[in-house]
Amino acid sequence: MSGICAGRVVIVTGAGRGLGRAHALAFAAEGARVVVNDLGVGLDGAPGTDTLAGPAGPAGADSPVGSGSPAEAVVAEIRAAGGEAVAHGGDIATDAGAESLVAAALDAFGRLDTLVNNAGFLRDRMLVNLAEDDWDAVMRVHLKGHFLPLRHAAAHWRAEARAGRTPAARIVNTSSGAGLLGSVGQGNYSAAKAGIVGLTLVAAAELARYGVQVNAIAPAARTRMTERAFAGTMAAPDTGFDAMAPGNVSPLVVWLGSAASSGVTGRVFETEGGRITVMEGWRPGPTVDKGARWTPAEAGETALKLLAEAAPPGAVYGA
Ligand SMILES: NC(=O)c1ccc[n+]([C@@H]2O[C@H](COP(=O)([O-])OP(=O)(O)OC[C@H]3O[C@@H](n4cnc5c(N)ncnc54)[C@H](O)[C@@H]3O)[C@@H](O)[C@H]2O)c1
Repeated sequence: MSGICAGRVVIVTGAGRGLGRAHALAFAAEGARVVVNDLGVGLDGAPGTDTLAGPAGPAGADSPVGSGSPAEAVVAEIRAAGGEAVAHGGDIATDAGAESLVAAALDAFGRLDTLVNNAGFLRDRMLVNLAEDDWDAVMRVHLKGHFLPLRHAAAHWRAEARAGRTPAARIVNTSSGAGLLGSVGQGNYSAAKAGIVGLTLVAAAELARYGVQVNAIAPAARTRMTERAFAGTMAAPDTGFDAMAPGNVSPLVVWLGSAASSGVTGRVFETEGGRITVMEGWRPGPTVDKGARWTPAEAGETALKLLAEAAPPGAVYGA
C-alpha cells in the first residue's frame, strides 16, 4: 500500500474502539502495518464488561484475543480494506503486556517504527469521594500504561541506533484538556494526563539521540468515553462534516507517527474536528529576584504584584 506511512509498522494501544480504532484504520489507510492492541475492558476498566468480547481474558502478556474481541474486529476491518494488521490482547499497564506488545510487532512484521499510546479509562469522582482504588486504577492505566510501552519500544530503538540503524521512530502520547487545564470531577484523570505531558517532554529529550521523536495530543471526539458530553453533536447539515467523529483526530496522529514529521518533538497539540492547536505550556512569567531571602509578608506582597502583571490562567473545565 502507498501512503505517508508505507513500509512503517505502527502499534496503537486501546485500538479496539473509539480514537484508537480510528488511528489504526487511518495508519493502515496510509500504508502502515498495524498492531492493534486492546484489552477489551469496560468504560471504568472493569474486565468482563466489554460488549463485543464478552468476558475479557486475564490481563498480561498471554491474554487471549478472541475472535469477537474489539482488537480482532479492527484487524478484520483493516484486512477487509486490503491492509495488514495483527491483534494483541495484553494489558499495556503491565510490564509483561508492554514487552509482548513490542515483541508482537517484531514477530509479525520484523520492525517497529511508531508507538501510539492511547489506551485508558475513567473513574470520575469529586476528590472528596475519590477512593484510593479509583486513583490507582486511573494513574496506572494512563501514566504507567504510557511509560511501559514507551520504555520497551525505546529499548528496541536504542539497540537499533547502537547497531548503526538509527530509526525515524515516533511516539504519539495521548493527554487531554483535563491534563492541561484541569477538569472538575477528574482529579485522578487530570493528574495522570498532566503526568503524560511531563513524560513526553523527558522522553523527547532523552530519546532524540536514538532517532525517536515524542509528541502528545489532547484530543476531543465522541466515543463511549464522552458520548454523554457530546451526545447532541452531529454532522453539519450543509457540509455533512461531523466535527466530533474520532477520525478527525487521526490525520495529525498519522502525520506525527510518520517520517514526514521530522524535526517535531516534545510538543503538545490539541486536536478536535477541523481544528489543530499548538499548546504552549508553562514558561516563566513576571519575575523578580531580591538576591536575598524574603520575609513571608514581603513574599506575599511581591507575589501579588507579579500576579497583577501575569496572564490569567485558563479556566478549569467544569469550574
Ligand atoms: N474521547 C475524547 O474526547 C477524549 C478526550 C481527551 C482524551 N481522550 C483519551 O483518548 C484515549 C482514547 O479514548 P476513547 O475516547 O477512544 O475511549 P474508548 O473507551 O472508546 O477506548 C479506549 C480503549 O482502551 C482500551 N483499554 C483500556 N484499558 C486498557 C489496557 N490496560 N490495555 C489495553 N487496552 C486498554 C479499552 O478496552 C478501550 O477499547 C484515552 O487515553 C482517553 O483518555 C479522549
